[in-house]
Formats: sequence, structure tokens, C-alpha cells
Amino acid sequence: MKDYTVECIRCGASYPKDEIVYTCSKCGGLLNITYDYAKIDKDRIVNAKGEGVWKYAVLLPFDEHTIKPVTINEGNTPLYMSDRLAKLIGVTDLWVKHEGLNPSGSFKDRGMTVGVTKAMELGVKGVACASTGNTSASLAIFAAKAGIPSYVLLPKGKVALGKVAQAMMHGAQVFSIRGNFDDALRVVRVLCEEEKLYLLNSVNPYRLEGQKTIAFEVAEKLGWQVPDRLILPVGNAGNISAIYKGFLELKTLGITDSVPKMTGIQAEGAKPVVSAIKEGKAEITPEPKPETIASAIRIGDPVNAEKALLAIRNSGGVAESVTDEEITEAQLLLARQEGIGVEPASAASIAGLRKLVDMGVIQKDEKIVCITTGHLLKDPERAIAISETPKEVDADIDALRKVLKL
Ligand code: F0G
Repeated sequence: MKDYTVECIRCGASYPKDEIVYTCSKCGGLLNITYDYAKIDKDRIVNAKGEGVWKYAVLLPFDEHTIKPVTINEGNTPLYMSDRLAKLIGVTDLWVKHEGLNPSGSFKDRGMTVGVTKAMELGVKGVACASTGNTSASLAIFAAKAGIPSYVLLPKGKVALGKVAQAMMHGAQVFSIRGNFDDALRVVRVLCEEEKLYLLNSVNPYRLEGQKTIAFEVAEKLGWQVPDRLILPVGNAGNISAIYKGFLELKTLGITDSVPKMTGIQAEGAKPVVSAIKEGKAEITPEPKPETIASAIRIGDPVNAEKALLAIRNSGGVAESVTDEEITEAQLLLARQEGIGVEPASAASIAGLRKLVDMGVIQKDEKIVCITTGHLLKDPERAIAISETPKEVDADIDALRKVLKL
């Protein structure tokens, strides 16, 4: 049996592996999964065979001999060297890791493969989440694969079309909540508590264990080197916390010798983490009315804020906000300079990079990895809204020539 501990990041209280618990029952702190790192052979990471999340099973919270992963081949996403974009932005060593190329089109699959595998191990009767869209799509897919019911609560009218389609198509019970994401999360937490459903929002520490594999893949693809800086969008603040943990583990095991400056980007209308970092506060002040076109990160009260603040501060990183206009520009740039199609929230990482370079915070020669978290087709309505409308034309070459720009 592998040694790992589920413990509170604030008071250190620990919980049994078979207890369903999301936050510390003593102090309310977030939970973290830690391993007996001295017992882990680093070569089992460096020389691991296979691909994707389960390749790194030695650093996942399961008994490797008995584990039956619920998997659809998540992870192993490409890390693109992005020279054209780099030149335009004014940096020299820029990489984009496109998490939109996971099976459901977002990074959430990494967390869900681990989360739903844990759900099956626990023998729960169903799984549930609140979501700005991607989490619900991913949950519905993995629940379908596992053969268990899923329940998803979405903020009414604020979820991109592709994501709702996925949740519906894969058979989740979908609820359109009259309220925002933070309201939906509040309700689903009570539902899970009272109905004994397994909550798979990123407050669940098993989810983050899957997502930390982004760090392993980045380091591995760079020849077990760590970039100077990693930039990503922040919503509920789970992913930045997870990736930081992944880099810390590589360093603890002696595989790498540093951790990248974790750089979190939020939308101007939903930036509690950015404000707390800039104001040097120990806690965030929730934003009661978050607003942005990047609906995935339209979150005012991120549940993992405490972990995210630590990740940013302890890595020497920064946090910055970007306007919807800057997000749109970056989305178009990525699509047209690099052929990388992403949804608006993902483009926030590029918009943030651009802004921080212009401000002189990011140096020109840093090795930078931007994480693009979700695929363009998640939000087709936005893609259409910001692109030129197709011109209707008769099926005639002369008519076509009249409207065509060559
Ligand atoms: N990018 C995309 C495309 C997302 O869907 C999310 C979160 C984030 C970034 C932010 O990640 O929450 O870990 O800080 N989406 C969640 C959802 C909230 O319900 O799909 P985070």
C-alpha cells in the first residue's frame, strides 16, 4: 500500500484515505495530499513508460497494484514552441501547452480521471459538481465511462455552448441555477453533504493530484528542466495550486532544482486573487458580482484561493488582471499567429504575458510556458462574434471573384 496522507494545509490535521472529506473539519482549511517522498524512487518518474496522467502513477494517491483507472487517455498534450507569437510580444523563449487537446477539450480531464477513479474506489452512488462549464463536461464524460450518475449545477445563461452540449450529451443531470458559479458551488456542497454524492470540484484534493501532472509533462518535455515562469488563467484557483505542487514534488525528489514563477491571470471583472496579491493581503475579498466574457473564469470567491496565494508568493510569481478586450486580442493572436484555437479564458494567459512584458515585470529572455486551458470549440459563439461573418455568394466563379480578397 502506498503511503500518502490527506492533511489540512492550516492546522496539519490528517484524515483517513477512506473518509469523504473536502475541507478540514477542525479548522475549515483546505486539504492537501502528501507522500512519503523519501520512499519514492525518482527514476520511476524520470524513466516512466506510457503517456498521460497515469504514467506518473507513482505520484498519484492509489495503490499501483490494485488501481483500476477510469481513463479516456487524458494528458500528454503538446507543448508548442511559439516563435511567431514570441516575436510579436517581445520575448525570446515562449512555449504554449495546449490543454484544450485533452479528450473533453480542457485540462479538467486530468483531475477527473483521478477524481472519478477515487469515487469508484470509495464506492459512491454518484458524483456532482458546480461548474462554469468545463468541469461539468469532463465530469459527465468520466461518470459515463465509469457507469455512475452525475449531477451538474451551472450558472444560468453563463456557460459556453460547447460545454453545456457535452454535459447534456454524456448523460449528466444538468441544472441551470439562477445565480452565479459561487452560488452553484454553495448549493452543490450542501447537496453532496446531505445526499452522500461525491463532490468533484477542485476543493477535492484528489482532483488536484491529477492536474499536477501538467508540471511533470512540462518539465519532461523540456528535458527535465523547469521554465523560469509559468503563466495560466485563474478561476477557482485549483489549477495554479496543483501545478505548483507538481513542480515542488519534482524539486523535493531531486529531479529538478527550481520551481517556476507561478503567474496567475484573472479577468478585470473577477480578480480577487490579483487584488489580494497586489495589496499584500493574507486572504482574498470575494467579488460579489464577477463579470467577464471569459465565462470559464467568471468566479468571485475562488475556493482554492489560500493555496493559490501561497503558490504565487512562494514561487516569486505575480498575479495580473486583463480586460475582456485584451483577452479577445490574445485569442485572435494565438489563433492566427500560432494556429492554436482556445476559448477566451485560456487566452487570458497570453494577454497577461503581453501586459506583464509591456510593464517590464517579465524579462525578454525568460523561458516562459503559457497554459491554454480549453479548446476554441468550447465557446463557438464567442469565436463567431469576434471573427468576420462569412459572405454569402452565388455558386458562380465571377460572383466569387467580386467578393474575394486575394
Ligand atoms: N480555464 C478554463 C478553460 C477553465 O474552465 C477554468 C475553470 C480555468 C481556466 C480556471 O481554472 O478554476 O483551476 O483556477 N473552470 C472551472 C469549471 C471553474 O467549472 O469548469 P481554476
